Amino acid sequence: MTDASGGAVALTGGRMASEVFRRDDTVLRAASDSSEFMASLLKIFEQQNFLGAPKYLGQVDGKDILSYIDGEVPTKFQPWSDDQVRAAVRLLREMHDATRGSDLAGRFDVVCHHDPGPNNAVFQDGIPAAFIDFEQAAPGGRLEDVAYFAWTWTISSKQVMPLEDQAAQVRLIANVYGLGEAERRALVDCVLERQSRNVRFWAEFLASPETAPAAPEVLADRIAWSKREHHFVYAHREVFDRALT
Ligand SMILES: Nc1ncnc2c1ncn2[C@@H]1O[C@H](COP(=O)(O)OP(=O)(O)O)[C@@H](O)[C@H]1O
Ligand SMILES: [Mg+2]
Repeated sequence: MTDASGGAVALTGGRMASEVFRRDDTVLRAASDSSEFMASLLKIFEQQNFLGAPKYLGQVDGKDILSYIDGEVPTKFQPWSDDQVRAAVRLLREMHDATRGSDLAGRFDVVCHHDPGPNNAVFQDGIPAAFIDFEQAAPGGRLEDVAYFAWTWTISSKQVMPLEDQAAQVRLIANVYGLGEAERRALVDCVLERQSRNVRFWAEFLASPETAPAAPEVLADRIAWSKREHHFVYAHREVFDRALT
């Protein structure tokens, strides 16, 4: 913890933003090219009465001001109970529903968060209550978020939760979200595609370290992790597919 300016306290644990500070009931985050879109998105959430996201409160000194949401944000991926996953999927679905048909979604289905992992969820009394970190939000297909969600909340090659239990929890995700038949058949491919994309995403930073949000060895770890998870899902895809159909 540092006291950087006027009582602002650094919030650590994120993966991308170089500086995130808390000041009283607000969070200050370096403004970026995404700020305008993020501001419009958070305003839509407010209008639609979706409460599972910070409020956008404006800008000061080149920083976005967001409301601080009380609770805990996990820093590690780990197994979550069905109740925790159910609550988070409901949030994801409500978040998507709030943007369907909006100008912001444009020609796409909804606005996707694109990083709705547990590391971007605020837990209150052990239950996910809000998503944060809308920097990568953009128009998209809802399966993109559901696939990334299934990977980061449930699927893990470490198998602390056994494979069959992971598959059952992925089915729970599909059920609670309310995926249709065709979407359920496509989900595993979307997980695989997102894992491949993650490899490329982090690898591009290796090629231009001056813009990278982390040191080369950290990037290499993230690349290795994404590849390992991709191999795991590919090797066991029929177990997940069977649970989904
Ligand atoms: N609105 C918020 N309410 C509560 N905590 C927040 C909020 N925004 C950010 N944080 C905290 O700051 C950390 C980093 O912020 P985040 O927006 O996730 O940046 P990064 O892109 O670096 O992951 C989060 O992991 C969380 O602990
Ligand atoms: Mg984050």
